[in-house]
This record gives sequence, structure tokens and C-alpha cells, in this order.
Amino acid sequence: MNAPADQTASTTDGWTVQRILEWTTTFLKQKGVESARLEAELLLAHARKCQRIRLYTDFGTLLTDSERAIMRELVQRRAKREPLAYIVGTREFYGRSFEVGPGILIPRPETETLVDACLDLIPKEEPREILEVGFGSGCIAITIAKQRPQCAVVATDISEVAANVAARNCEKLGVTTQVTLLLGDTLEPLKNAGRRFDGLVSNPPYIREDERDSLQPEVAMHEPGTALFAGTDGLDVVRRIIAQAPAYLKPGAFLSMELDPAQCETVGGMLESAGFESVVIRRDLCGSERVVTGVFAAQS
Ligand SMILES: C[S@@+](CC[C@H](N)C(=O)[O-])C[C@H]1O[C@@H](n2cnc3c(N)ncnc32)[C@H](O)[C@@H]1O
Repeated sequence: MNAPADQTASTTDGWTVQRILEWTTTFLKQKGVESARLEAELLLAHARKCQRIRLYTDFGTLLTDSERAIMRELVQRRAKREPLAYIVGTREFYGRSFEVGPGILIPRPETETLVDACLDLIPKEEPREILEVGFGSGCIAITIAKQRPQCAVVATDISEVAANVAARNCEKLGVTTQVTLLLGDTLEPLKNAGRRFDGLVSNPPYIREDERDSLQPEVAMHEPGTALFAGTDGLDVVRRIIAQAPAYLKPGAFLSMELDPAQCETVGGMLESAGFESVVIRRDLCGSERVVTGVFAAQS
């Protein structure tokens, strides 16, 4: 943050809230950040430890030296295309704030469609046991637990970083007794448990390896590859989940997965071949096919 050069000048031309917002917006735009004004506001609110709305009542206020130093560092990180969520340390999902950070997939709005698909199949009043593969921040498991307080959720992930962050999110959101986090590959951590569940949900890694170069720098350079990529067709983990699922599901249980729109038909067919029926594809809020759900018909 080198310009304007007179940043130590008087109140009339020093670094007021308004001026720093304008400067940061222009700077982030030059660096290719799409919603530069909004992000400038979110970064400044974070630097000043205030609500974003407060910036508007403080337009003429000069930043303190410490706020300016913090803001400078935040803006430099964002200019290098580090995701905003990693910089501020949280992301909203289903109306709740989740801790995120390097090594954790940032929850996406599309994944709320996956949660909705599951909630439609989980009765409000009856106890149910739900399984998740790939908990990441814990946003799916925790949201299901919050929306369906009589549900127990068991969730797995191969990432130790995710296990630590998801555990903190469970603590913060008060679901430690409802959500059990297990570290391990797909359904392996449950192989000796002898349990069958009422539903299995997953937002698995589903991006094709050859898509790596077309991703936004925020994703390609900063988010964890193990959360994103799954082989040449993006379905390596999906195939393993579908192959393992029947041994862990009760008859009538659902299996619901988030996918790329181009994969939904194929995966629907895979589910039917594996003994699932009533397969449906749900669209996300942008109108793209996003979530495939099937009901487990046969006993394995
Ligand atoms: C797309 S992210 C989803 C994270 C979170 N559930 C969400 O929706 O934001 C996929 C997650 O699956 C985990 N994962 C990848 N391969 C896995 C495997 N073989 N077994 C279990 N978890 C896996 C990754 O570590 C990552 O946290």
C-alpha cells in the first residue's frame, strides 16, 4: 500500500476509511479480484474488527497506525490471490459461521443444495444415523446435526488438518455429542464397526486432473488438491464410495452426492447398477445439475 504517498498527512487527505476503501478496490481490481469493492470492505472490517456496516458511518475516520499495518498485510495477501475466507478465517454456510484456513476446502453455496437434498429425506422428529465421507470444515455434518437435532452424524476424512478444524467447528457450534469425526480413507474407519446408517452424504473431490489449469488462482494455488481432484474423470473417490456404501446402509437409506453437472447422469447410472433406485438429480441455485440422490433398495 504505497500510494498515495502522503499517507501520514492531515485528516483531510490521510488514510480515511473511505479513501482506503477506494484505493484497495482499485488495487484488487488490477490484481484480477472480481468483487473488489465488497472484498475491500470485508478486509477493512476485519482489520478494524468491526461490522462491515460500520465502515459506512466511519467514512471520514482516519485509520490508526495499527489498523493500517494490519490492512496492508491483508491486502497484500489477497493481491496474491489467497482466498478471502482464509484471510479472514471464516466462511458462512447455511447461515452459520465456520472456521476455515489453509488445508480446508472453503464451503461453497452449491453444497447447501446437497444439504437441502438430505434434509428433505431426514424426518424432523425421529432419530436417524447419517454418514458423511469427506467432512472438510465439517459444514455438512454440522449443518445436518443443527437442523435435525435428533440425528447422529458420523463423518470421515483423510485430512488431519480438516479433523482439527472440523472438531473446533463442532465445539463452537455445540454439536460434539451429535457428530463423530473419524480420520481415515472413505468408509475404512467404520469397517469393523458393524453399523448400518439411514443415509450417506458426500461432497467428494470430483474435479478432473486436466481441469487444474482452468481453475481460479484462489482454488488452484491455495485450496488442498486432495479435496478437489479425483483422477482423469474426477470420479475416483465417487466410484469407491458407491462400491463401499451398500455394506454400510440400511435398506431404504439414501445416498446423496454433490458432483459436477457433467457427471450427474453417469453417476446416476452407477448408483442404479449398485442397487440404488428412485435416482434423482437436483439442480443448484444457478440451475446446474449438482446433486445425485438414490435410495438403497437391496441388502448387500
Ligand atoms: C470437496 S471437499 C468437501 C469438504 C466439505 N464436506 C464441504 O462440503 O465443504 C472433499 C473432502 O474429502 C476429503 N477426502 C478426499 N479424499 C478422501 C478419501 N479417500 N477419504 C475420505 N475423505 C477424503 C478431503 O480431505 C476433503 O476434506
